[in-house]
Amino acid sequence: MFKIVTKRVLSAVNKLMEIEAPLVARKARPGQFIILRVRENGERIPLTVADSSKERGTITIIFQEIGKTTKELGSLQEGDYLSDFVGPLGRPMELPSSGRVVAVGGGVGIAPIYPKVKAFYDAGLEVISIIGARTADLLILEDEMRAVSSELHICTDDGTKGHHGFVSDLLQPLLDDTSKKIDEIIAVGPLPMMRVVAEQTRPYGVKTLVSLNPIMVDGTGMCGCCRVTVGGETKFSCVDGPVFDAHQVDFAELTRRSRTYLDKEKIALEKFEHECRCGGEK
Ligand code: FES
Repeated sequence: MFKIVTKRVLSAVNKLMEIEAPLVARKARPGQFIILRVRENGERIPLTVADSSKERGTITIIFQEIGKTTKELGSLQEGDYLSDFVGPLGRPMELPSSGRVVAVGGGVGIAPIYPKVKAFYDAGLEVISIIGARTADLLILEDEMRAVSSELHICTDDGTKGHHGFVSDLLQPLLDDTSKKIDEIIAVGPLPMMRVVAEQTRPYGVKTLVSLNPIMVDGTGMCGCCRVTVGGETKFSCVDGPVFDAHQVDFAELTRRSRTYLDKEKIALEKFEHECRCGGEK
């Protein structure tokens, strides 16, 4: 059993939890993820390691309450326990040894991009961060991102904070500024956002990485649920990723696959919310 030692509400739908998992914390590196179950027989969900502390023996996760399991997770309090917490999984991200990196985080994608930005910054790279959300209330980790970025640019779809528009609007002038070379771009966020960034940077030939979060079950390369086509080859996000070359990812296929269980997810969420309202068993 894995204890929730800290819980923070970041926005109306985003929550942060620090989980006591010393064996995972000892090995976790930026770019990796964990799979948890809230309770026995519950759904297994993958979440990026947002932070880790070997000293405290903890892993920090950040999640958006969008489905049944994330809502169930969000209803737990400090002192409660999770039934399973497996990791670290996936390949750690490779760090460039020097240069200028642009990090683009959208929505809840700001959570997984934060440890990567922190690792770049700690390694002495110049990091320009762009973060965006639908509206100001959904923008998370602004202070944390500012603390590990050389520059931080903010946008919201509705203009309630920062630039009124999309992360791609803020990325464009950086791509066009030929006086300052960009060595690498990493983008994490909703699939449409990562797809737009991939197409935007392709003509410039700038190395662009994305961190994918497809449907996963076992997280160890056995079930095939997380498969994604990269450069014409089938890869498993859980063992070959989750970070891939954005220009090689088949986003059209990935988008189709991500919708496979939408109807079932909707039914599970409605049932969960009905049970919560009635005070019944979850
Ligand atoms: S989650 Fe099963 S192969 Fe990746």
